[in-house]
Amino acid sequence: MSVFGAEGEVDWSAERYARDAGFVAELARPLVDLLDPRPGERVLDLGCGDGRLSAVLAARGARVVGIDLSPDMVAAARARGLDARRMDAAELDFEAAFDAVFSNAALHWMGARMDAVLAGVYRALVPGGRFVGEMGGFGNIAAILTAILAVLDRRGIDARPHLPWTFPTAEAWRRRLGAHGFRVARVESIPRPTRLEAGMAAWLDLFAADLLALAGPAARAAVRDEIVELLAPALRDGDGYWYADYVRLRFVARRPEEEKA
Ligand code: BEZ
Repeated sequence: MSVFGAEGEVDWSAERYARDAGFVAELARPLVDLLDPRPGERVLDLGCGDGRLSAVLAARGARVVGIDLSPDMVAAARARGLDARRMDAAELDFEAAFDAVFSNAALHWMGARMDAVLAGVYRALVPGGRFVGEMGGFGNIAAILTAILAVLDRRGIDARPHLPWTFPTAEAWRRRLGAHGFRVARVESIPRPTRLEAGMAAWLDLFAADLLALAGPAARAAVRDEIVELLAPALRDGDGYWYADYVRLRFVARRPEEEKA
């Protein structure tokens, strides 16, 4: 998923994403059920990626608009016959246009501009409209993150200022949504170790490319391999399968029917 321009060197190629991160959409079916889109409802899919989930929503009868910043992802979503648009999630251009805004695995990339994103989502919803989403929550990829920081630190590189993700606690997310005027119906934190069929090196290549790049082109591969080695005792099981230590933050909030004057 790609929603605004802070992705550094992340390769948001739709083909690669489908190959190495197909699980992202696969595991989001409970979120689709939580949204429960009704025929004819207008739904905005924020950070729609290649449109796999937008297509599921459309198959349930919703009129879906997907937005993503990556031209390649938008092209892949359009190839599915979807209304996909290249748009910055922090500059949403909609006024009371949707019955629901849906977002899976995209919001944690938007930390620096989250207030602009949430203000835009609020504006995009009709009064009474719902915002249903899932993102990384507090503790998400804690082991992976620690290994990345540790291996780069061995080379004298402090990667902390470059971390592209934000993983709020349920309490902090509830407050954040509330500060933007949403009525928060639920926020839950769900630990979900996630099997990586393509392995940890592929995960790092796809999602942590900008952090690996801090090591420079000559050291990049060695840094990645050291991270993989450091993680093996914690995140590779006895059968050799890799897991990402994911924690999902799942939420439902509404724009109130009646707003305070
Ligand atoms: C996540 O879905 O939690 C995630 C994906 C890529 C990078 C960081 C977190």
